[in-house]
Amino acid sequence: MNDKQSVAIAAAKHVQSGMLVGLGTGSTANYFIAELARRQREDALKITTAASSLVTTLYAQSLQLSVVAMEQLSAIDLYVDGADEFSADKTLLKGRGSDLVKEKLLAKAAKTFIAVAESSKQVDYIGQKFPIPIEVLPGAWQLAKRSLEDLGGLGDLRQNVAKDGYWVSSHGSLVLDMRFDPMHDAAQLNALINNTPGVVEHGIFFGLCDALLIANNGTVSEHWA
Ligand code: A5P
Repeated sequence: MNDKQSVAIAAAKHVQSGMLVGLGTGSTANYFIAELARRQREDALKITTAASSLVTTLYAQSLQLSVVAMEQLSAIDLYVDGADEFSADKTLLKGRGSDLVKEKLLAKAAKTFIAVAESSKQVDYIGQKFPIPIEVLPGAWQLAKRSLEDLGGLGDLRQNVAKDGYWVSSHGSLVLDMRFDPMHDAAQLNALINNTPGVVEHGIFFGLCDALLIANNGTVSEHWA
C-alpha cells in the first residue's frame, strides 16, 4: 500500500453511518472514495456524499456512492481532501487541478475538514514549492494581475496542457499562478488576495483545516487542532 492510500484509509475511519461526506479531488481523494465504497459494500456503511468536481462525481457514482448536488447543501459533516503543500499551522495550498472553488466551499461548509497528505508535501511556508493558483474573472485578469503585482506577486496566466491556449478552471475562471515574497505569512497573503477585486478564489486554505493526517513510509500521524 502506498502513502496516499494509507492516509486516505486512515481518514475514512472517521466516517460514520448517517454522515453527509464531502469528497475532494485528486489521487489521494480517490483512495478515500474507494475506501468509502468498500465500506458501503462490505460493512453496510450508509452515507451520502457531495463532490468537489465533476471527475469526483463520476468516480463516486461509478462506485455506487450517492452524490447530492452542491445546490442542495447548506452544511456537510465531514470533508476529506488532499493538498499540494501544507505547513505546520495546517494551512494548505491547493488548486494544481481545476477545482479549488468547490473544494474551498466544501472545506468551509464542513463541520470537520480532514486534509490528507504525504510528509513530502510539508513546507516551511505556503508557496515554497508551488506558485499560488489564483482564479480570476476572465474579463478582469489584467486588472487583477496588476493588483497582485502591487502586492509583490510575480507570475502569469497558466497555459493549457498543449501550451496553445490558456487554462480554464472548472468554474470558468482563468488562473494566475503567482509567487510572493515569503515575508508575507499565509494569514496576510490570504487576506490580501481575498481583498483583490477580480479574484474569484485562490489556493491558500487558511484556518479551514481541523485535522491533518500525514503519511510517512506507511506510518500515519494525526494532527488535530
Ligand atoms: C485539486 O485541485 C488539488 O487541490 C488536489 O487536491 C491536490 O493537488 C492533491 O492532489 P493529489 O492527492 O493527487 O496529490
